[in-house]
Amino acid sequence: MYSILDLQDKFNLLIANQVFKKKPHKLYDPIAYTMSHGGKRLRPLLTLLACDLFSGDVEKALYPALAIEVFHNFTLVHDDIMDKAPLRRGKETVYKKWDSNIAILSGDTMFALAYQYALNTDSNLVPKILSVFSQAAIEVCEGQQFDMDFETSPSVSIDEYLEMIRLKTAVLIAVSLQIGAIIGDASEEEIIEMYNFGNNLGMAFQLKDDLLDVYGEQEKFGKKTGGDIVANKKTYLFLKALELCDSDNRQILNDTYNNSAIDSEVKIQKVKQIFDKTGVKNAVESLMLSYYDAALHCIKNIQVDETRKTQLLELASSMFSRNY
Ligand code: IPE
Ligand code: IPE
Ligand code: MG
Ligand code: MG
Ligand code: MG
Repeated sequence: MYSILDLQDKFNLLIANQVFKKKPHKLYDPIAYTMSHGGKRLRPLLTLLACDLFSGDVEKALYPALAIEVFHNFTLVHDDIMDKAPLRRGKETVYKKWDSNIAILSGDTMFALAYQYALNTDSNLVPKILSVFSQAAIEVCEGQQFDMDFETSPSVSIDEYLEMIRLKTAVLIAVSLQIGAIIGDASEEEIIEMYNFGNNLGMAFQLKDDLLDVYGEQEKFGKKTGGDIVANKKTYLFLKALELCDSDNRQILNDTYNNSAIDSEVKIQKVKQIFDKTGVKNAVESLMLSYYDAALHCIKNIQVDETRKTQLLELASSMFSRNY
């Protein structure tokens, strides 16, 4: 059985050995730039831990894990264009440092590169892996489109928001675990349970991301705080605040969100003030907790020795309590 640290070392070494820099430089430099900034690299770690949970050969899971991480990084490169985000992992975003055309094409290349990496495992596993991977990729795009649609939609429900974050974020976390379980030769029931574990964990993860977008420390978080407010993102914080506040504040909140002429910093402060008044932070934290509990419940159903679960549970807990 491997520790989180062992698997992180293995995976970081694999990334360090990839040659991302090639010609044309404007295509490949942004890829090398993105991959070199690390990030938390949670999804590949989930894949490796899931494989190890079922006593699978983690060497066989390394390239599929890399495929998932490269795919994730591709989504971030395109997401930053869509969200007009200036900062990622404490560095200038690709479309800011270069331009949008470059970010689009480098992102496309990363998407294809992810598929190449995914092929690098036992050939009998490849069709199944590609099938779940492709489905997840489609669902991430669906989620991203809902996310964009909601920016200008006047009435988004909490259920619609939850489905949107399931698609854009939770599915990839679910599939990271599912692919690890497939390579670890888990049973069909176990594979489903791992997917459900990841789905619940992913929901808590995105709720925390939305919370940190408002309340996180920019230095640690690496992204511009208040970015979701500036972009009119219909997050749980916003939707729940609308529900919890009185009609006067509801009017102010709606007007401020829809005011495109307002100064960004003033907008962030005004919205935050209402969020604070309504105690919406507690509401997000309690919803996060219920998804986290549901995730733990899924992992309880997996019939492997409890000691084998410790590393995965430790990682899940760190994802839940993260502040970056
Ligand atoms: C950011 O994911 C996008 C979301 C789904 C919230 P991460 O928070 O895992 O980003 P990195 O890879 O660690 O930077
Ligand atoms: C992330 O949503 C979802 C994907 C990148 C697919 P966000 O837009 O909230 O992610 P960050 O906050 O920019 O990392
Ligand atoms: Mg974004
Ligand atoms: Mg986004
Ligand atoms: Mg975010």
